[in-house]
Amino acid sequence: MRVLFVCLGNICRSPTAEGVVRHLAREAGVGRQWHLDSAGTGNYHLGEAPDERSQRAARRRGIDLSALRARQVCAEDFHRFDLILGMDHANLRALQGLRPASAGAMLGLFLDYAPQLKQREVPDPYFDGEQGFETVLDLCFEAGRGLLNHAAG
Ligand code: 4NP
Repeated sequence: MRVLFVCLGNICRSPTAEGVVRHLAREAGVGRQWHLDSAGTGNYHLGEAPDERSQRAARRRGIDLSALRARQVCAEDFHRFDLILGMDHANLRALQGLRPASAGAMLGLFLDYAPQLKQREVPDPYFDGEQGFETVLDLCFEAGRGLLNHAAG
């Protein structure tokens, strides 16, 4: 299963989603079955490591995001991945606009895999305090478990 997580900057939400799902997949003993990556619809932070606040919040839960580097979504992504998941509706709309007609990737929202939650979007924490980053982690764990269970079928 090849999954690309997408947000705006690729420094807060989508690298957190990538790190959390990788962590959960390894924990479940299926890490080798998952090819995971993340990217941004914007180009503001290309080449940067995840936001310090995201890294700190993830580290508190045993997840190291320090090796990840921000990049922008590109046309090949729609051919290279089975599933491309936006963190919010704006990300999903941007992905729908970029998707080449011939591409096979399925598009959706990450929180489609957490139907038990009322919210459908992972809120952008960039201009928030630390609590916003904790919320992102909570949501990523919830949807990440849902994604793994869905694939396990
Ligand atoms: P992300 O958060 O999309 O979760 O990575 C953001 C990071 C940077 C900006 C916006 C959102 N920015 O405007 O620079």
